[in-house]
Amino acid sequence: MHSERLIHRRGILLAAGAALSLSGTQARAAAAPLSIVVHKDPSCGCCDAWVDHLKSAGFNTEIRESADIGALKRRLGVPDDLASCHTGVVNGYAIEGHVPAADIRRLVASGSKARGLAVPGMPVNSPGMEVPGEANERYTVWLFQADGKRAAFAQHGG
Ligand code: CU
Ligand code: CU
Repeated sequence: MHSERLIHRRGILLAAGAALSLSGTQARAAAAPLSIVVHKDPSCGCCDAWVDHLKSAGFNTEIRESADIGALKRRLGVPDDLASCHTGVVNGYAIEGHVPAADIRRLVASGSKARGLAVPGMPVNSPGMEVPGEANERYTVWLFQADGKRAAFAQHGG
């Protein structure tokens, strides 16, 4: 009987620990499958490859094609010097360029007040930019604010 009580107590402590490690909002954000709308130019192929990367990471994806995504990038507050080929919108965040799925999940789970994440240009071997036989290009994922200020969020490659 004594050991049963100990096991019961241990279960309560474990549950309390799990509740403390994530706030309610963060726990829901981490559990729900993320839905992303990806704006791209009809002629862009690497954009489709990036969408495939998100799908295999469990994202619900929707593609919207537009011949003028420059205007959309400005509306979403993507800084000009961080621009890439496509722009995704997930949970109100702008996701510019070939950002890895894991970084998007980390942003959403953080509940950050930032505008979004960006990988400027098209780094070789970033998700959707795979080139067999080419060395991985080193790149930074930037966390940017509505006023254009940014900080490094992750480093990959190289
Ligand atoms: Cu691209
Ligand atoms: Cu693209």
